[in-house]
Amino acid sequence: MVASDANSRHRSAAEGSLGPVDRSLRAPILQAVMTMVPPVHQLFKTPRPGKAVLAKDDVAAVIAIAARAPSLHNTQPWKFRVEGDVIELLADSQRQLRHLDPDGRELTISCGAALFGLRLGLRGRGYIPVVDLLPDLARPELLARVRPDGRAAATAEEAELVTALPHRHTHRGPFTPGEVPARVLMTLQLDAAAERSDLILVHDRAQVAGLARLTELAAAQQRADAEIAAELSRWVRPAGSTAKDGVPAAARTFQQPARAEPGGGSGNPARPAFTGEPALLRMPPRDFGQPGTQPADGAPPAATAVLTTPGDTAADWLRAGQGLQRLLLRAATRWVFASLQSQPLESPARRGEVQDLLGLAGQPQMLLQLGRANTALATPRRPHSELRANEEEA
Ligand SMILES: Cc1cc2nc3c(=O)[nH]c(=O)nc-3n(C[C@H](O)[C@H](O)[C@H](O)COP(=O)(O)O)c2cc1C
Repeated sequence: MVASDANSRHRSAAEGSLGPVDRSLRAPILQAVMTMVPPVHQLFKTPRPGKAVLAKDDVAAVIAIAARAPSLHNTQPWKFRVEGDVIELLADSQRQLRHLDPDGRELTISCGAALFGLRLGLRGRGYIPVVDLLPDLARPELLARVRPDGRAAATAEEAELVTALPHRHTHRGPFTPGEVPARVLMTLQLDAAAERSDLILVHDRAQVAGLARLTELAAAQQRADAEIAAELSRWVRPAGSTAKDGVPAAARTFQQPARAEPGGGSGNPARPAFTGEPALLRMPPRDFGQPGTQPADGAPPAATAVLTTPGDTAADWLRAGQGLQRLLLRAATRWVFASLQSQPLESPARRGEVQDLLGLAGQPQMLLQLGRANTALATPRRPHSELRANEEEA
């Protein structure tokens, strides 16, 4: 289950509106700080009794958006309980990977990503969300209560994030050549900051190569662990599977881009040739029990980054998840996709090595490589009826 740490529990209504990101980036740091500070009127509010404003189709639409969140092995470890206007986000401990993720850290990050979806879903429908994070010390599985508090039309940026939902996906194949402008990467950093996490770009090639090496070591260690291997096999789906969770075959098989030809051509006039050292600069994607299926070619990612939080409590994990989904969706609005790598963070010793390698003051919660990519098919999600912890009202 989710690690219980009294310090991690935050009673707060502070996670309300999404907060805009200033496209001009004229004062990015100030802007990030502004998005972190809730309007005073949102602090210390208690739910107002009265008629529910959320219609049944609002609830279904909002939960569907939340459920598109990324999750470890696509376990979708969440449930939603709806009481009037309050949507409760619950951790589903039946879906926890007990060997890989004994503290429920990654389960909680996944649920944090779903929490961002609840907020975004409400914004998309014109409601202002108010969030009570970890509201009940006696119920650690209750991660958040979210409710609408007033109305305001979604901003253009919020609408853009909703539009990006269907094509946002975890990328595992080769990257295609192409720049990701610095201002886009900076916007992703502001998104992380707005959710009280930190996206740190790793520019040093030796450090990126070091991360790739730590990933290989972690993958080998996990391959040799019978319990982790058995747990993994329960979430890897064969080709043709109709399962609504787990990692489908299509998400694990990669199409190699056209190889660079001697003399500089790529075989594809639309694509410049790549002549760098991709293997060194790419953290090998998780092989899902099938070593050797990782992409051996392609352009290096445009950026390598680590998402950190100041602490390592359940509240930090929820914030990391919200930051992750927010920045992944923002990237998808620019047709930039991320490879997620958590293997080196799944053992305390390797996680410490990542911290040392990068000289991190915060806690690393996710490694990312971002770049241009040919899009993959969306992974499946469970139907609404399976996601509800309580009966739907007629
Ligand atoms: C906490 C967490 C850890 C993850 N770790 C990895 C990883 O190590 N390797 C990987 O390929 N994908 C990783 N993913 C991505 C999931 O496998 C992916 O979100 C899931 O299969 C659903 O697919 P989608 O993101 O394309 O919707 C992780 C996602 C989360 C939220």
